[in-house]
Amino acid sequence: MHMYDILAKKREGLALSREEIEFFIRGFTAGEIPDYQASALLMAICIQGMDERETADLTLSMAHSGEMADLSQIPGIKGDKHSTGGVGDKTTLIVGPLAAACGVVVAKMSGRGLGYTGGTIDKLESIPGFSTQQSPQRFAQIAEEVGVCIVGQSGELAPADKKLYALRDVTATVESIPLIASSIMSKKLAGGSDCILLDVKTGSGAFMKTLEESVQLAQAMVSIGARAGRKTAALITDMDHPLGRAVGNALEVEEACQVLCGEGPGDLRALSVELAAWMAWMAGKAPSLEEARALAEEKLRDGSALERFCRMVQAQGGDPSVAEHPERLPKAAVSLAVLAPKDGWLCRVDTREVGRASVVLGAGRETRESALDYGAGIRFAKVLGDPVRQGEPLGWVYASTEGRAQEGARLLAGALEIGERPPEKRPLFYAAITEKGTQRL
Ligand code: URA
Repeated sequence: MHMYDILAKKREGLALSREEIEFFIRGFTAGEIPDYQASALLMAICIQGMDERETADLTLSMAHSGEMADLSQIPGIKGDKHSTGGVGDKTTLIVGPLAAACGVVVAKMSGRGLGYTGGTIDKLESIPGFSTQQSPQRFAQIAEEVGVCIVGQSGELAPADKKLYALRDVTATVESIPLIASSIMSKKLAGGSDCILLDVKTGSGAFMKTLEESVQLAQAMVSIGARAGRKTAALITDMDHPLGRAVGNALEVEEACQVLCGEGPGDLRALSVELAAWMAWMAGKAPSLEEARALAEEKLRDGSALERFCRMVQAQGGDPSVAEHPERLPKAAVSLAVLAPKDGWLCRVDTREVGRASVVLGAGRETRESALDYGAGIRFAKVLGDPVRQGEPLGWVYASTEGRAQEGARLLAGALEIGERPPEKRPLFYAAITEKGTQRL
């Protein structure tokens, strides 16, 4: 088999065979296929696309390029949840323990922040003492005893994706549904869970800006999951506004704990309950989605989810008292208010810019090597649609230096638009995609 022939075939828009795809992934991962040929293939895929069978073959090949986690020694149905990325999305911190309280085993690998979007691992590491590195034995033991354990992705998980992603990033080949779907799903399949729930974001802060694109991506990923024999579903949810009111690692842990304690913002609570309910339903812990919702509500209300969270934190070396004592989380030295320049309504939030402001403040990484400032971030006083009076705080920025705080405040102010009338209300949920089809909500 020759890479040249594979390139010519995809250039002409023909479907590649499983053998050709495996030849490419194996050779590229081993360093035998040079970057220029891999880049040419990525660009041909971007332009010509891939059918469902090819995309599934590509994903499975990437998943098998490294270690495939074997969770079979952990009793129970294992459920995973993945968000395509957003700003202020701290749902995993709530959904993991909540799904566990509903009887799903959450033995999960999560990622770090990417660009302007935050990562669960960074958030968890803002809890004093918390370790996201556990031996495979300890990972399995915590998952079995507590029902939830969240660790960082090992370097051996889908190494083909790591190499391909780095190449896509510099060859303008990120924006391709088969490439995004295979990248995400290769890591989910290698993660080993029986059920996979995908939270596909749509809106100004999402990877996919339009609902149509988000639905197509979700359909591609659900189809891959089904072909790989995993129960897979996706919800399309809003990311036209940061989720909840906090952006930044320790600030988000605090907000997640508020929801686990029965308080916190309504959008974050509603999304977390819905995601946990879907996981419980998919894992067979309730006979219907309606009953799964009632179960998740009950486990949140009666403190079971909070108890799972505290046990997970303790088992992973962290201080569980942060749940009720947020003052024990890292704090930023400087805070500045961003004030409303006029009366009106908060009618637009440029979520991507809010994410950029959080990176400048120190809550995200400017480069791979940047150190995080766990206390840094943003807290909103007003959310989309709220009436505002001139001079009232729209929110506060937190940073370790006055200079960073000033720069973050300037970016945040630029991301918030005050209008003369309230914006149209956007739903939190747009669509649900299962192996049976797509349902608009
Ligand atoms: N996240 C991933 O893991 N891969 C992509 O291609 C896009 C988002």
